Order: sequence, then C-alpha cells, then structure tokens
Amino acid sequence: MLLPWLLWLAVLCPGGGGEAAFQGPTSYHVIQISSFANSSWAQNQGSGWLGDLQLQSWDSDAGRAVFLKPWSKGNFSEEEVTRLEEVFQVYLNGFILEVQDHAHEFQMEYPFEIQGIAGCSLHSGGGTVSFLRGALGGVDFLSIKNYSCVPAPEGGSRAQRICALIHQYAGIRDIAGKLLFETCPQYLLGVLDVGKAELQRQVKPEAWLSSGPSPGPGRLLLVCHVSGFYPKPVWVTWMRGEQEQPGTRRGDVLPHADETWYLRVTLDVAAGEAAGLSCRVRHSSLGGRDMVLYWGNPVSIGLISLAIIVPLFILLTVPTLWFLRRRSYQSI
Ligand SMILES: *[C@@H]1O[C@H](CO)[C@@H](O)[C@H](O)[C@H]1NC(C)=O
Ligand SMILES: *[C@@H]1O[C@H](CO)[C@@H](O)[C@H](O)[C@H]1NC(C)=O
Ligand SMILES: *[C@@H]1O[C@H](CO)[C@@H](O)[C@H](O)[C@H]1NC(C)=O
Repeated sequence: MLLPWLLWLAVLCPGGGGEAAFQGPTSYHVIQISSFANSSWAQNQGSGWLGDLQLQSWDSDAGRAVFLKPWSKGNFSEEEVTRLEEVFQVYLNGFILEVQDHAHEFQMEYPFEIQGIAGCSLHSGGGTVSFLRGALGGVDFLSIKNYSCVPAPEGGSRAQRICALIHQYAGIRDIAGKLLFETCPQYLLGVLDVGKAELQRQVKPEAWLSSGPSPGPGRLLLVCHVSGFYPKPVWVTWMRGEQEQPGTRRGDVLPHADETWYLRVTLDVAAGEAAGLSCRVRHSSLGGRDMVLYWGNPVSIGLISLAIIVPLFILLTVPTLWFLRRRSYQSI
C-alpha cells in the first residue's frame, strides 16, 4: 500500500523531481494467472508489461508470445525470443503438472487460483532490481529474494513447506535466477531504448468542466475532466485563488484505447460558493505552464462575448459603411 502513496507524493511535491524526472515506464514484468478448476482441468494466462503498457500476451494453445508493439521484442534476436518462448512453455506446462501432483499433499482445495508476477525495474541509484512474488487465492504466498524463496507470513506453514520444496529444484532455481537477474535487465534496457520514441512522447491534455449529479439540496458537484494526456503522471486540483481546496476528490486515472489517459477530479461545494473556483492542471507536456479553468466566471464569459461580438460588428459594419459611402459619392 505504501508504494502508490510514494508515487503520488512524487507527483504532488513541487520540486520533488516528479515532474522533471523521466516519466515513462521504468520496469518490466510478466504476469501469470493459473486457474485450477478441478483435479483434471487447469489453464494458464500470461502477459508482459512495460509499466502500464502491455507488450505481450501469451497464446497458451500455440505456446508462443503475441507481440503487441512493433518494438515489443526490444533488442532481442528472433532466436533469443524463440528460446525464451520455449522456456516459458516448458515452465507453464510443468507448473500445472507439479501443482496438480502436489495439490493433495499441500491441502489445496479446488477450485483455486495462483498468481505470479516477476520482473525487474530501474533503480534510482543506477542498475536494476528484480522481483518475483506469488499469491494463492489472492493472498501473498511467497517471494524470491537474492535467489532464495522467502515464504510470506500470510502463507503460513504451507508456504514454508513449498519454499523448502522449491529449494530442492536447483535446476529450476538457476534458470529462474538467470531470467530474473540477467535476461530481464538486458531486455528492459533494450526495449526502453528501442521503444523510446513512443515511450517518451508528450501529449497535451484537453480539459473541461461540468456539473455532476447534485450531492444534496443547495449543493453542487463541480467536475473537472482532463483527457487524452501522456505520460500518466498528472496533478489536478480545485483551487480558490492560490488556495488548494482540501475537499478535492481525485478519481482513478483511466486508460483510453489510444494509450492516453483520462482523469476526473471533483469538488462538492455549496451552490453559492462555486464562483471563483478554478481547476488547475499540471502535466509534463505543458512545459511548466499550468492549465487553469474557471468555474462559471461571468467576467470571462463577458470577455468571450465581447471578443466575438466586436470583430463581428466591425466585419459587418465596415463594408456596409464603405458601400454606403461609395454609393453616396456616386450619386453626387
Ligand atoms: C473440471 O472443470 C471444467 C471447467 O470448469 C469442467 O468443464 C469439467 O467438467 C470439470 N471436470 C470434472 C471431472 O469435474
Ligand atoms: C545473497 O546470497 C549470497 C549467497 O547465498 C550471500 O552471500 C549474500 O550475502 C546475499 N546477499 C544479501 C543482500 O542478502
Ligand atoms: C540489449 O541492450 C542491453 C542494454 O543496452 C544490453 O545489455 C544487451 O546486451 C543487449 N542485448 C542484445 C541481444 O543485443
């Protein structure tokens, strides 16, 4: 739970480096979801992710990875990719058989689900760190630290016994260690480089205001929509002058199909207090100039009307006057 808070703080804290630092993804991980319906039926689902961006999905029938971006293979050769696909296929098939073999011994009751995440991320001090965690029925079960299996406290004695079993398979441990601590960092550095044009792009948000369903009599729900931005980190808040409004509620940052992001930020206020509030948007694509949208500001609406009406007036009247003057000259 701590990590999301730290990330959020890094975005929030002005001068905390959150805006200036490289904002693209800095980690790669694969996800495995193995569902065991009964003693004779199980299936694996697999996918590969660069931060929030999916790069691969696993085709279980073919035993191959499906690469979702032209640069998803990073700097790996076709032979290297094929070799890795074979490793994953042998692993995934073996995983199901091993679990089915030991399900009774470890009192695993059908149906159950095993989830795994493994990968590596760039370390702020340089280099990379690798990780592998497993969960059983949605609860942390074990992790790998420094080539060793560490049972999670929530996993109880069953996790301890399974770690002891894993330690007996030296061959598997060596392959997993090589994948985690060598292949993953090489792939991560390579794919970040090959995909950098797309990963480091900057797309400006569009923002607009609306009112949501009234939270109660005499109250307004002000909604600030921020849409179509990339990369994901963004800071949006409701303000009165320079004062951040503590009642600001931030929704989840949601994905668009074009791989940009959308965020909704709301404020519940008394109807009489809405005037003078503004929604302020800070994003790396805006080059340090925040977007500011004012709620129902009569001055700005007046100015806009003036800005439209004056040119329109000139446009219509000047030719007419000129035409009339010409006519009057001619009639002389
Ligand atoms: C095992 O589960 C699968 C998938 O839910 C189901 O189709 C099959 O009939 C089940 N087999 C047994 C023996 O219960
Ligand atoms: C990692 O494991 C090796 C050998 O098992 C050990 O020598 C080393 O001290 C460990 N490192 C850490 C950080 O625990
Ligand atoms: C891919 O790039 C990384 C980082 O530059 C490098 O360490 C690795 O050796 C490269 N791999 C191949 C197969 O070229």
